Amino acid sequence: MSSVHDWEAPNPVKTNRSGLIGKGVARYEGPLKVTGTAPYAYEVQPPSPPAYGVMVGAAIACGRVVGADIAAAEASPGVLAVWTHFNVPKQAPKGTKAHPRSTSPSRPALEDAHVLHFGQPVAFVVADTLENAVAASHLVKLTYDADTPDVDFRARLEAAGQPPGELDVEIGDFVRGFSDAAVQLDETWTTPIQNHCQMEPCASTVWWEGDKCIAHTSVQMVKPAQHGLAETLGIPRDDVQLLTRYIGGGFGGKGQTYDDLTLAALGARAVGRPVKVAYTRQQMMHGTIHRPATVMRVRLGAARDGRLDALSMMTWTHCHRDGNFTEHASNFCRALYAAPNRLTGHRLIHLDLPGAGPMRAPGEASGTLSLECAMDELAERLGLDPVELRIRNEPPVDPENGRPFSMRQLVRCLKEGAQLFGWDRRLPTPGQVRDGRWLVGMGMAAAIRGNFLLPAKCSFTVEPDGTIVVRQGMTDIGTGTYTVLAQIAAETLGVPLGQVRVEIGDSELPPAPGSGGQFGAATAGSAALMAGMNLKKVIAALAVGDPGSPLHAGAPEEVTFQDGVIAISNRSETLSDLIRRAAPEGLTVEGEIRPAQDAREWSTQTYGAHFVEVGVDPVTGEVRVRRMLGVFAAGRILNAKTARSQLTGGMIWGVGSALTEGNAVDPRYGSLINQDLAQYLVPVQADIGEVEAIMLDEVDDKANPMGIKGVGELGNSGAGAAVANAVYNACGVRLRDYPITPDKLLAGLIAKGM
Ligand code: MOS
Repeated sequence: MSSVHDWEAPNPVKTNRSGLIGKGVARYEGPLKVTGTAPYAYEVQPPSPPAYGVMVGAAIACGRVVGADIAAAEASPGVLAVWTHFNVPKQAPKGTKAHPRSTSPSRPALEDAHVLHFGQPVAFVVADTLENAVAASHLVKLTYDADTPDVDFRARLEAAGQPPGELDVEIGDFVRGFSDAAVQLDETWTTPIQNHCQMEPCASTVWWEGDKCIAHTSVQMVKPAQHGLAETLGIPRDDVQLLTRYIGGGFGGKGQTYDDLTLAALGARAVGRPVKVAYTRQQMMHGTIHRPATVMRVRLGAARDGRLDALSMMTWTHCHRDGNFTEHASNFCRALYAAPNRLTGHRLIHLDLPGAGPMRAPGEASGTLSLECAMDELAERLGLDPVELRIRNEPPVDPENGRPFSMRQLVRCLKEGAQLFGWDRRLPTPGQVRDGRWLVGMGMAAAIRGNFLLPAKCSFTVEPDGTIVVRQGMTDIGTGTYTVLAQIAAETLGVPLGQVRVEIGDSELPPAPGSGGQFGAATAGSAALMAGMNLKKVIAALAVGDPGSPLHAGAPEEVTFQDGVIAISNRSETLSDLIRRAAPEGLTVEGEIRPAQDAREWSTQTYGAHFVEVGVDPVTGEVRVRRMLGVFAAGRILNAKTARSQLTGGMIWGVGSALTEGNAVDPRYGSLINQDLAQYLVPVQADIGEVEAIMLDEVDDKANPMGIKGVGELGNSGAGAAVANAVYNACGVRLRDYPITPDKLLAGLIAKGM
């Protein structure tokens, strides 16, 4: 097994001879996407005319489906099948793993009478057209035996007192450190349910070729989707080919598959035709997972000079009845600030709501909305600048486990950000700056998000015409995977970008963990780098061993690769000449990355600092984001353009978390009241002023062989808190119940007499 010290050696990505690594090259698949010709899962052209499936969601939050009258639906024009739990084809019981190494167990659809949440698919109709399927779905008559749903998070919290949770983590003596502290802050923040709202809903197109199921779906992780479907259908895993070529956003919501995939597979087998199934926007809200609500209590005890003596963050959150997902909103603060006495933990309440699960920067996105505002409040009480307060609490090593940081440039992010933004113009007393009728304020917050490397494989092929083909069971959820893999391949093999083809999103390709936890680029890219270096060795050996090559009998380690030409000093030929002559079938080699066995000796995180200027309209309570700047330290950047898009996208999400986003629960039905994008408000153009993300020039050799880290989630950590802090600085109203909507802000302004 390798160690992080091996990773410190030079390699083509680090040497970056052609300068392709880091360059803001345009998206590999961009032309397909902007011309509408990238086939997303629902648009994949099957080999024969497809039928269309439509799901019917439960109208109750908990109870049982006790009756189903499907006669009218079955008699409706074009209908090919109508299923409920009474007649759905047999599937493996939920949680089955017939193959012990399956990465996901079975996930049967319409499994039994039980309804666990509102909108759970309880009936399925297949028809010759989408219109006929929709029409027939309205004719399915279901009878329920409904129980009273338990869906009110805040009410349950009050009733539960101290619900169970994971073991708290305590260092030192928090209670004592807090009570002895010269300055104390003890406040509670709340965040609502949030939905991913991917532009592309979950969707599948599935057909069968004999015993083999060809399934196109929209999912972030290929292998678990393949394995889960095979387990559900009770067939060998190799009998499922799972494809996910283009994905219109994942954000954690597509870290798993849903009933669209299972029902399309069952439907296609039953009706003997390809079947397409997609969630509607409304069905996405209930039928897939969401980010759960939180209640977060932050306690900070500080000395007069701002140094924290005691730091605690406790999170209460909820998940669905049959799960144990916990929004780990307290975790990030374990690595963020120094304090000798520390207490963090999580409490979980089970409710009759749709599934809770990961959503972009799970933990940090919610958690920074409390701690990073608490730091702002503490700074004010201490009469300290919020940037300075953070610098005074910068830990020399990981404050909880004592590990050295692999690379930590949070202070540099804070200082450079403050300077670039003009932070010195901020007036610490709120409500002092006006621009016309707007009250203007500035806020800031720190950003942190872990960095991960998972095992992955990749294959590289050189074709006779010199084309380098990268193949990997990886996904691109809109992040830039295709593009960065092409850059790594071109740089490693010394060929122009246009000479690289990237094939991903297929379970029959070398496995990679997919996109999530901002581990994608580091993980998939490191495996690609390994495959590329292996292919280079094989090509060099081929050239020096080939009597027909000008490089014949040279030293393989002296072979250079540049502009599609291989050479040993002044002896050279093109890569395609060599391959056409010496390996006319082409050459394929694999590469692999694994976490180094000593990687855990370091605390490896990504960091950033957000600076925001907002305007608050004191008459309406409206907030306008005027400027946002994020400065980030996330290792070497593979592509300045796609990385910047990831970071600014995360920052804009922070605006949504702070100001607009949230699902309200209807306590009567356990449904989410706002079910579409007219009522669930994600930020749009008019909500965003100037946005800029700056990436520090950094290499983290301990993270992986490329020295890169992830940026997919970092931008969303802390951004919302910076907005909330700017709102306070603008108008003096401190709201701890997100989102900060005009009604709440106006009430605060009126109470202050503004
Ligand atoms: Mo992510 S929310 O870890 O896909």
